[in-house]
Amino acid sequence: MMSPSSLFLIFALVLNPAVGYVMPDGHTGKLPSLGWNSWNAYHCDIDEDKVLAAAQALVDHGLRDAGYTYVNIDDCWSEKTGRVNGHIMPNMTRFPDGINGLADKVHGMNLNMGIYSTAGNATCAGYPASLGYEDVDAGDFASWGIDYLKLDNCNVYPLNWTDQFIYCTQDRSDINLTANGTCTQQLDPDLAPAGYDWRSSNTYERFTRMRDALAAQKREMLLSLCIWGYADVYDWGNETGISWRMSGDIGPYWNAVTRILNINSFKLNSVNFWGHNDADMLEVGNGNLTFEETRSHFAFWAAMKSPLLIGTDLTNLSQTNIDLLKNHYLLAFNQDDVYGAPATPYKWDWTWDPYSPAEYWSGASQMGHLVLMLNPSNDTAQHKEAVWSEIPGLCDGSYEVTDVWTGQDMGCLQSYSAEVAVHDTAAILVGKRC
Ligand SMILES: *[C@@H]1O[C@H](CO)[C@@H](O)[C@H](O)[C@H]1NC(C)=O
Ligand SMILES: *[C@@H]1O[C@H](CO)[C@@H](O)[C@H](O)[C@H]1NC(C)=O
Ligand SMILES: *[C@@H]1O[C@H](CO)[C@@H](O)[C@H](O)[C@H]1NC(C)=O
Ligand SMILES: *[C@@H]1O[C@H](CO)[C@@H](O)[C@H](O)[C@H]1NC(C)=O
Ligand SMILES: *[C@@H]1O[C@H](CO)[C@@H](O)[C@H](O)[C@H]1NC(C)=O
Ligand SMILES: *[C@@H]1O[C@H](CO)[C@@H](O)[C@H](O)[C@H]1NC(C)=O
Ligand SMILES: *[C@@H]1O[C@H](CO)[C@@H](O)[C@H](O)[C@H]1NC(C)=O
Ligand SMILES: *[C@@H]1O[C@H](CO)[C@@H](O)[C@H](O)[C@H]1NC(C)=O
Ligand SMILES: *[C@@H]1O[C@H](CO)[C@@H](O)[C@H](O)[C@H]1NC(C)=O
Repeated sequence: MMSPSSLFLIFALVLNPAVGYVMPDGHTGKLPSLGWNSWNAYHCDIDEDKVLAAAQALVDHGLRDAGYTYVNIDDCWSEKTGRVNGHIMPNMTRFPDGINGLADKVHGMNLNMGIYSTAGNATCAGYPASLGYEDVDAGDFASWGIDYLKLDNCNVYPLNWTDQFIYCTQDRSDINLTANGTCTQQLDPDLAPAGYDWRSSNTYERFTRMRDALAAQKREMLLSLCIWGYADVYDWGNETGISWRMSGDIGPYWNAVTRILNINSFKLNSVNFWGHNDADMLEVGNGNLTFEETRSHFAFWAAMKSPLLIGTDLTNLSQTNIDLLKNHYLLAFNQDDVYGAPATPYKWDWTWDPYSPAEYWSGASQMGHLVLMLNPSNDTAQHKEAVWSEIPGLCDGSYEVTDVWTGQDMGCLQSYSAEVAVHDTAAILVGKRC
């Protein structure tokens, strides 16, 4: 006999044939998620005050009204010592109102509440996690008023949960690469054979269990897969969650930005409505990123239609960075609800280079074509030219051009060129023909 929850699941599927994953009334998740996440700012050192301060800052800085509505707690929110009566318990020293009390306050500010767990035996920081407890945890999250779950990929125990094969992604430490960044069966006999369907892997099973547990709740909760680009998630992420991490963690320095940009430039076919490659949380405001590096980072994350989850102490963010995060043109491109595809490289030979990724990018949108031109050089400014006939969807002639950084109308141009500083990006919108 069928359980009420599986009946509900089928009902939900029938009601939502157009949605890539199963949700009770799937009306959120079509576009990349915008918000804040605690990890890059605080790592494990989190509490209710910090989360509420971030939520208040989203409101005060106008970021909520610009679209950043998710307030996502990352790892370390629970009692570390283990489950209590089978449930993950919020650490009441850190979260005296519980997660439900915090969620009430966050909802009261017209924001959404996100939480974190792991599809393993313990979270990445060693707290109790959800593998084998998907139904219990999804039920608790729903009862607390959670809107979004980030599900991480650490501590895959017991060992029978390990995958049969290794997935070839250049961004993992347990794989042997050739000098040009390819994986070969000679170097790694455990690589999956060509044509292997990763839907038969244990990784697929670990993540889809939580999808099904969330879908069985009477509350819409988005699932974000923190799966590091493993298990060919590009093929099945769209039927499992709203976004999937396509790399290992970012860091607050330039090499991390170019490393991820390089990997993602090969993987953008899987990005469209309801399913997005997640290039990891933003480092705007963090580390030693220069002004130019920071705005290149933000421009590319927006252009690739990554979720944009701010990862800094919002109470100490410069006005320059607040304005960057609110850049009208980049946010409008990222959140375009008519054009689902991301910007992609053009004039590029598919060269694998973690330090010097593709330089010329374009993507269509309701506003016109977004064009980005990156200078990856460490020491020399570069002259860059956007030649219309080289850009997919454009042809020779003249177009109205707007500078994305300043909003300045550049007039009717036959091409656009700029001096681009070290690690900076020229960013324009190419509008109507003129
Ligand atoms: C709860 O958090 C406090 C403050 O960080 C910490 O000292 C304590 O060990 C934590 N309790 C558990 C059970 O994890
Ligand atoms: C699973 O995690 C718990 C802590 O949450 C730990 O005590 C246990 O040893 C772990 N099991 C394995 C197989 O690693
Ligand atoms: C691994 O073993 C546990 C029991 O220890 C079982 O519940 C689980 O389903 C197994 N996982 C797989 C992928 O077979
Ligand atoms: C990369 O190197 C391997 C051998 O190490 C070679 O077989 C392969 O053709 C190379 N690929 C490219 C794109 O150069
Ligand atoms: C491949 O890497 C593994 C460790 O991940 C190592 O044990 C093995 O020797 C390597 N194989 C080759 C051919 O280098
Ligand atoms: C920035 O930080 C990274 C990581 O700590 C470091 O490797 C790099 O050298 C730093 N760059 C500069 C310009 O200080
Ligand atoms: C993901 O699924 C949705 C709904 O079926 C579809 O609209 C979208 O285009 C898909 N994305 C990709 C990249 O296939
Ligand atoms: C605030 O930001 C400035 C740089 O903008 C930094 O030097 C300072 O350490 C930050 N203060 C705190 C408390 O994080
Ligand atoms: C920039 O510096 C890094 C080291 O941080 C180096 O590996 C890389 O090749 C340099 N990039 C370019 C484009 O020269």
